[in-house]
Amino acid sequence: MKWIRVTTTENIPLREGRSVRIGDEEIAIFNLGDRYMAVDNSCPHRGGPLCDGIVSGDTVVCPLHGWKISLETGEVVKPDVCVKVGTYPVSVEDGVISVQYSKRDEEKAA
Ligand code: FES
Repeated sequence: MKWIRVTTTENIPLREGRSVRIGDEEIAIFNLGDRYMAVDNSCPHRGGPLCDGIVSGDTVVCPLHGWKISLETGEVVKPDVCVKVGTYPVSVEDGVISVQYSKRDEEKAA
């Protein structure tokens, strides 16, 4: 596990998401106001860009067909299906956002 600096807080407006790239992997970072959350940027339905979705509470609604995904757990909240996206711990220090990315994730992304 290592922390990778991905962007700065000023790049992610309140209640919006932005995508960042780590290796070949795209990760969506969201600004929830009191914290930042990170999940895979690919909707488990048909790969929609979750970073462009509408943030509602601690969930994001996919911009393509409206699946609702928990940013906390990565689970699909609506519809009732048993799939999830990867989630990543996020830290913020001096306005710099870092994501904890495991070696396994790196190998997966390679
Ligand atoms: S691709 Fe996300 S809901 Fe269809």
